[in-house]
Amino acid sequence: MNVTQSIIRKATPEDASQIFELYKTVSKNIGGLARTENEITRAYVENFSNKSFENGLQFVVIDPLNEQEIIAEIHCYQLEPGVFKHILSELTVAVHPEYQGKGLGKQLFQALLGDVQLNRPDILRVELIARESNIKAIQLYENLGFKIEGRFENRINNGNNSFEADIPMAWFPSKIR
Ligand SMILES: CC(C)(COP(=O)(O)OP(=O)(O)OC[C@H]1O[C@@H](n2cnc3c(N)ncnc32)[C@H](O)[C@@H]1OP(=O)(O)O)[C@@H](O)C(=O)NCCC(=O)NCCS
Repeated sequence: MNVTQSIIRKATPEDASQIFELYKTVSKNIGGLARTENEITRAYVENFSNKSFENGLQFVVIDPLNEQEIIAEIHCYQLEPGVFKHILSELTVAVHPEYQGKGLGKQLFQALLGDVQLNRPDILRVELIARESNIKAIQLYENLGFKIEGRFENRINNGNNSFEADIPMAWFPSKIR
């Protein structure tokens, strides 16, 4: 599938329905998103979108050749306690399975981190957590400058009495801003 025509832009409240459909599709493949398909609800999507509009960032990729369909999304936002106000947290990224491995995830991160670097001097840290087996994602995050900060042993329950570690990672803007 050709993604050279795809467009990255900030999300709007009107995108919620399409983002919901995207997350439903991406969550069908086990091993990526933490939530399973039946845990992706409209309330979940509206909640993270609203928080991202209020104090965080949310970008989408649209495919202009396919009726403006949203094919990828990234978001993160500030947590409520004042002590965490310099952090963008709860970062989640999802690329439609048919469009994965074509550079869209990397481009979404570059848009988000570039915006933080330029326009959010209040943000000193962007954090995320990825399951240890999601090697492709962890490699991408490291290439983007995220640092592995530790290891949450047995944090992910894969069912059938099988658990795996979750890997906390963080990115820091450069001091020249
Ligand atoms: C993880 C995810 C966001 C990455 O986005 P993507 O668009 O597929 O990744 P990109 O095409 O931007 O690739 C980024 C890097 O990973 C590499 N990569 C891509 N597909 C790969 C594959 N199948 N195997 C190994 N490396 C791969 C690319 O080479 C690229 O590295 P480079 O910049 O050095 O060339 C996306 O695959 C996804 O949505 N997965 C399901 C949900 C998920 O896991 N979310 C993250 C939860 S923490």
